[in-house]
Amino acid sequence: MRILVINGPNLNLLGVREPDIYGRRTFADLENSIRAAADQMGLEVELFQSNHEGALVDRIQQALGNFDGILINPAAYTHTSVAILDALKAVGLPVCEVHLSDISAREPFRQFSYVSLCAGKTLYGLGFEGYTEGLKWLRDQLSP
Ligand code: DQA
Repeated sequence: MRILVINGPNLNLLGVREPDIYGRRTFADLENSIRAAADQMGLEVELFQSNHEGALVDRIQQALGNFDGILINPAAYTHTSVAILDALKAVGLPVCEVHLSDISAREPFRQFSYVSLCAGKTLYGLGFEGYTEGLKWLRDQLSP
């Protein structure tokens, strides 16, 4: 099973960025934790991060025929991007949406997610563990 893991804008600054919200662990720590969890589950993962909406759309489109599922933290584009929603709908793969923080308890503008309109599962407020849970959910969805 091949899973594409996508992280959106500013997540590359984890560890530095608003540590009271996102913690002190770095983006490299997050990537290591995703790889370790995937290894344990016997999943193949490819990790992609970009600060650019079009680059995220391009990567989602390229998943067609190459991956079995998508785990995505669209970051700020969660709340604004019809283009990312449409790309996810276009490829039609199982999608799990993940957020490090509890977006339901933050500013009102963070409480709507375009991606949730197509995600089979949304996880938030679990920190790095949310990615592990998301991989498990995708594995279970894809298991015969
Ligand atoms: C985030 C939540 C978003 O509202 C925010 O813009 C992010 C990160 C999270 O992981 O908690 O950049 O997706």
